[in-house]
Amino acid sequence: MRAEKSSFWHIGIIGGSGLTAGIELEEAQEISVSSPFGAASGPVTTGRLGGVRFTFIARHGAGHAIPPSSVNYRANIDVLNRCGVTDVLALSAIGSLREEMAPGHMVMVDQFIDRTTSREGSFFGTGLVAHVSLADPVCPRLSAVAGAAAEAAGAKVHPAGCYLAMEGPQFSTRAESRMYRAWGADVIGMTGMPEARLAREAELPYAMLGMVTDYDAWREEEAGVEVSHVLEVMHANARVARDTLRKLAANLPPERAPSPIDRALDHAVITAPGARD
Ligand code: ADE
Repeated sequence: MRAEKSSFWHIGIIGGSGLTAGIELEEAQEISVSSPFGAASGPVTTGRLGGVRFTFIARHGAGHAIPPSSVNYRANIDVLNRCGVTDVLALSAIGSLREEMAPGHMVMVDQFIDRTTSREGSFFGTGLVAHVSLADPVCPRLSAVAGAAAEAAGAKVHPAGCYLAMEGPQFSTRAESRMYRAWGADVIGMTGMPEARLAREAELPYAMLGMVTDYDAWREEEAGVEVSHVLEVMHANARVARDTLRKLAANLPPERAPSPIDRALDHAVITAPGARD
């Protein structure tokens, strides 16, 4: 039997490229939490912002030493879960596949296409088989409140967008970039999957605030993506990211009503009770 979730918000933040320095939490404490899935990306910091508890992990580690294919996504989600977070908000650098989603804009990702190839993608396997529904991989409630917070922080926010998760670490060819556009993807990144689907398996409502840093490779008239440029845009917008979290804390309703995602496994486990490990 799993514990009931708290009726108070506790937001887990996974900070991406350019956001490894963490957020300025009040009463911040670095805590050590172990997981049977291995080591999380780095130190876990917990604290408060305006009365709301936040717990932060830098996805690529404190000095950005972990590439997208080596991030232990299972440990990061499991550690946040063990910390008692009620919801997870991912902050990620993304490339844009759409003219109107310009560098500096924010996109509230609402769908994913997963093209990653070499990552541990589930908490379940032999001994306990489960198939969670991923039709709607993002929590609309958290996404809406985070998007409104980003807008209040001064960002231009797109309320929806389909994220193409690629393996990397190289950026895409122009042909790939054009193909992803034809598939209906709006933005591209290297870390949204399997993170989003693991959050669902952990029954954690998940939303992604993507910060557009570049136009990827589909625009013939532009040079390809340069990491220095990606980081420049991220650093220029780090204040907006920090203000967004402050506004988010202020805008959350005082109590957290349960979400259907809190019980995502209710109808997902297929292994008979007597056959479970
Ligand atoms: N992260 C930021 N920009 C990106 C791009 N163009 N492709 C993949 N990941 C990215």
